[in-house]
Amino acid sequence: MIENVVGVFQMPFGIATNFLVNGKDYLVPMVIEEPSVVAAASNGARMARVKGGFTASTTPPVMIGQIQVTDLPDPRNAVLRVLLEKEKILTKANEQDPVLTSLGGGAKDLEARMIETKAGQMVIVELLVDCRDVAGMNAVDTMVEAVAPMIEDIAGGRVYLRIISNLATRRLARAKCIVAREAVGGDEIVEGIVKAQAFAEADIYRCTTHNKGIMNGIAAVVLATGNDHRAIEAGAHAYACRNGRYTPLTSWEKNHQGDLVGTIEVPVAVGTVGGVTKSSPLFQIALKIIGAKTSRELAEVIASVGLAQNLAALRALVAEGIQRGHMKLHARHVAMSAGATGQLIDLVAAKMIDEGKIREDRARELVGQLSN
Ligand code: MEV
Repeated sequence: MIENVVGVFQMPFGIATNFLVNGKDYLVPMVIEEPSVVAAASNGARMARVKGGFTASTTPPVMIGQIQVTDLPDPRNAVLRVLLEKEKILTKANEQDPVLTSLGGGAKDLEARMIETKAGQMVIVELLVDCRDVAGMNAVDTMVEAVAPMIEDIAGGRVYLRIISNLATRRLARAKCIVAREAVGGDEIVEGIVKAQAFAEADIYRCTTHNKGIMNGIAAVVLATGNDHRAIEAGAHAYACRNGRYTPLTSWEKNHQGDLVGTIEVPVAVGTVGGVTKSSPLFQIALKIIGAKTSRELAEVIASVGLAQNLAALRALVAEGIQRGHMKLHARHVAMSAGATGQLIDLVAAKMIDEGKIREDRARELVGQLSN
């Protein structure tokens, strides 16, 4: 899959449970190195399940391919000329991918706009490509490269960049859940979560961590299913500041019944076929476990995971704090670094948790005592 390979790097592969999305049960594969994330996602999904789980939807799977045209004597006129030749350009783009077009996808529309840059005015031509069930990097990049010479001719300028945009504002996933106040732990916790939301909305330092927690879940499913988690991360954070201010990707409010209402909206450009999905049997297994038939269904589950992850994090933060959830695995790590092996790992970890002392010096003492 890559160059200069010297080995294979393994990561833990877990399965989050309790997800009910649009009335269907899902087991959610997650690949992540951080303790507690899979448990937290399952816990968030369990809390949401009481009132029917998640309602999720997506826009059609449209990606944006950009072509940068520079050195234009008359950029405004170039925009018009490109728009007038739209059909010809779309036909050329669609010739590149007969399979995608036969499935109802392909380049559907084209836009062109002028931008001011420090290197002068440019025209940015954007192909809007319905990618169906592929993530779309290859399909879109092939199309923009193929139409670039034609656009140079029509616009009368010089094309430099021809590349997909990872800010997939045309490929959004949304999810919503109502969390019963009893399910989340009572009125005080509901109040705390509403205040945590307000904190994230008002403060970029908190907002970054709020969104990081959401991406813990999203990136783990994206990675497990053989999709590009860097693309999704970049797109999500850019989407979070689309109005010029960095904002939370989720929102939490209290309704008239005193329950929590959570929503998320995030670009989720993932595929269920194509890309590297066939390069590893693990990606295929992950896709089989999640059982999503289309890229849109996969994106709907992923958005729900982001919302569940955020719910569980906020609940823990406003109640006991997140360290307690981390303790069991943390104690095991400490026991192992103190030399515990096999069954001794759990024995040493359990003893340290009981004592409330999770330290390597104590673990070493316990290894000495318990291994005799
Ligand atoms: C840790 O990986 C994620 C959290 O910090 C998220 C949050 O603070 O909302 C717990």
